[in-house]
Amino acid sequence: GPVAWEARADLVVLGSGVAGLTAALRARALGLRVLVVTKAALGEGSTRWAQGGVAVVLPGEHDEGDSTAAHAADTRTAGAGLCEDDAVRAVVDGGPAAVTRLRASGATFDGSGRGGLARTREGGHTAFRVVHAGGDATGAEVQRALLARASDIPVLEHHIAVDALRTPAGGVAGVSVLDPGGVLGTVRASAVLVATGGAGQLYQATSNPEIATGDGMALALRAGAMLADVEFVQFHPTVLYTPGARGRCPLVTEAVRGEGAVLIDATGARVMEGVHPLADLAPRDVVSAAINRRLAAAPGGVDDHVYLDARTLPGFAARFPTVHAACRAVGVDPAREPIPVTPAAHFACGGVVAGTDGRTAVPGLYAAGEVARTGLHGANRLASNSLLEGLVVGERAAEAVSADLVAGLLPDPRHGCLPERTSAPVADRDSLQRVMSRYAAIGRDAEGLSVAGSVLDLSIVDSPLWTVQAVEDASLTLIAQALLAAAARRTESRGCHVRADFPGRDEAGWRRSQLVRLGPSGR
Ligand code: SIN
Repeated sequence: GPVAWEARADLVVLGSGVAGLTAALRARALGLRVLVVTKAALGEGSTRWAQGGVAVVLPGEHDEGDSTAAHAADTRTAGAGLCEDDAVRAVVDGGPAAVTRLRASGATFDGSGRGGLARTREGGHTAFRVVHAGGDATGAEVQRALLARASDIPVLEHHIAVDALRTPAGGVAGVSVLDPGGVLGTVRASAVLVATGGAGQLYQATSNPEIATGDGMALALRAGAMLADVEFVQFHPTVLYTPGARGRCPLVTEAVRGEGAVLIDATGARVMEGVHPLADLAPRDVVSAAINRRLAAAPGGVDDHVYLDARTLPGFAARFPTVHAACRAVGVDPAREPIPVTPAAHFACGGVVAGTDGRTAVPGLYAAGEVARTGLHGANRLASNSLLEGLVVGERAAEAVSADLVAGLLPDPRHGCLPERTSAPVADRDSLQRVMSRYAAIGRDAEGLSVAGSVLDLSIVDSPLWTVQAVEDASLTLIAQALLAAAARRTESRGCHVRADFPGRDEAGWRRSQLVRLGPSGR
């Protein structure tokens, strides 16, 4: 229908997690008029569910021998050859200042009892450098602290961005937005920062909240931006297993393994012994794949969970209150019995191609946080590097917007036009999640990926984007198609892309990222 309402800003931020709010706060401090558009209530995205912590090497608070160079090296090892050096250095080196700012602005991290901060270890880290809050509630504390400071920034809650407004020269100058009543409006702005998080809802079982549907990736792709590395979906090795789980599965933070718990199968045998030198603390693509192999080889046929034995950890309930409560809610006492766990979709390593200053190739369009592909994660993100990335890139993106505005590089918001699109391909969400889980999760092969593509196509209809559900389903559909195509093309196994029919890495052919962009037909 016709556009019924209009708002104006210098910068519109889509999303209210760590990246979006960090950017909004910095932009306001730089004197920009900021408007945050968030599709649920404020802060309901993935940030608040993050447990383990923030990976950072703080001056005066690190292991002997640890350094930002070691953190960078671990990041690159996990990333399996696809990290971009400049991005890794920018984010890792920017970490100490970002965490210091966050603490100065009111976030409280756990102390070690010896004056400094407590530090834990997670998969792929060669040192204890993950700082945390509330034991295993780091994301909740980060979210709380940012929201407390952002209380006077204008926000449209329960508003979902549908499309970017395009200028005749190909820039972006705002977004079209559905309000809670389903009425379409426009927000005109010199710059749009996409900070909408990931797309865990591509799969049946995920650690992500229900709203992680890839909206920002789809919006940016339709606006002319490129995606890269979309085939690299990280599966967290341990979410709490409950039969037939759907939607958000409670995470069992890797820090539980960092502090000594081990994975065992139904017979009590260790899962990670002999698989990798770091055993239970191997990078998580290695751990998830090992769990999957063990499940497939179960004596009674394919099993659906293994166990995390944390019985030897002292003071579990106090150190891991979030995990403890989730376990107790399903009748498991981690002090007395192993915790049933299974891998689940956790993090989109790829996304909108952007610099570590948030800039994309489209004038006026910026991206930060999980939605962005800066080159930090490569083929597999290192644990606890994502709150870090949100903090560092969120801040820098606001500075880039301000600089670009001052330099006169941004499109004139008066020239933004709604795309002519009236409908989009939309697949049935249950079918989509079912085929993605079956054929495009941890073990993939050419035949399965092709079956998935065909089944998905069969359930697609053209639908007007008049409801939140339709916008989300259109996003999931577009990203699922991009992911299936990229996964089929990558004929090797690397990082979290595991091909049963191509088990080895192909350095000569595939030590590179795949770019995705839309053709003129929008497909
Ligand atoms: C965890 O606590 O295990 C999750 C950390 C992360 O995904 O970075």
